[in-house]
Amino acid sequence: MRIFIDSANVEEVRQAFELGVISGITTNPSLIAKEGRDFVGTIREMIAIVGDLPLSAEVVSLQAEEMVEQGKKLAALGEGIVVKIPMTEEGLKATNRLAKEGIKTNVTLIFSSPQAILAARAGATYVSPFIGRLDDINQIGMNLIQEVSQIFQVHELPTQIISASIRHTAHVIEAASLGAHIATLPFKVIQQMVRHPLTDAGIKKFMDDWDKAGSNLGSI
Ligand code: E4P
Repeated sequence: MRIFIDSANVEEVRQAFELGVISGITTNPSLIAKEGRDFVGTIREMIAIVGDLPLSAEVVSLQAEEMVEQGKKLAALGEGIVVKIPMTEEGLKATNRLAKEGIKTNVTLIFSSPQAILAARAGATYVSPFIGRLDDINQIGMNLIQEVSQIFQVHELPTQIISASIRHTAHVIEAASLGAHIATLPFKVIQQMVRHPLTDAGIKKFMDDWDKAGSNLGSI
């Protein structure tokens, strides 16, 4: 499973990318609005960091025609741009139009397998089932990843599954086990994945023992 960062914060993207573990970025209008900066400028700065890796940028129209126009403009910003489109009838039309023009799409706000099947059939490059938001309404979000994963495999659908709306490290492990191709993670979840109390304790002991013995690196 590949890891994307779910963020519109350029500094977070830079820090995560430096770790060498990031294969792409997802953004959404809320994340962009939270930063209070120019949309296109932010996308360009992120492209400068990750180059041609997939970077999902979302359209902000609900009409297919406008989504296609916005999608084409976004796609022109860089090789890696993936046009993020909401899961609606208009969104499916736009996805299909963009797919026919060779533009990659990520159909977002997926909350059921029927939605995922339609998005895949419309030609979506990626679908984004939202796990955390399903958990929030007392459904088991991960069941959706399992179901979509199985359906796509059985029917050999090439659309990749981005496990989205991830809230903690357990979500990441479950998504990986259930066959999601990608998990898109807030930076804080990436940081949580790094840490383990036994790693911290182990490092402390190694350093203390080294200091106590007065060791040095010799001729290294
Ligand atoms: C994914 O592409 C979305 O941007 C994101 O995962 C939404 O997560 P949230 O439910 O925490 O807002």
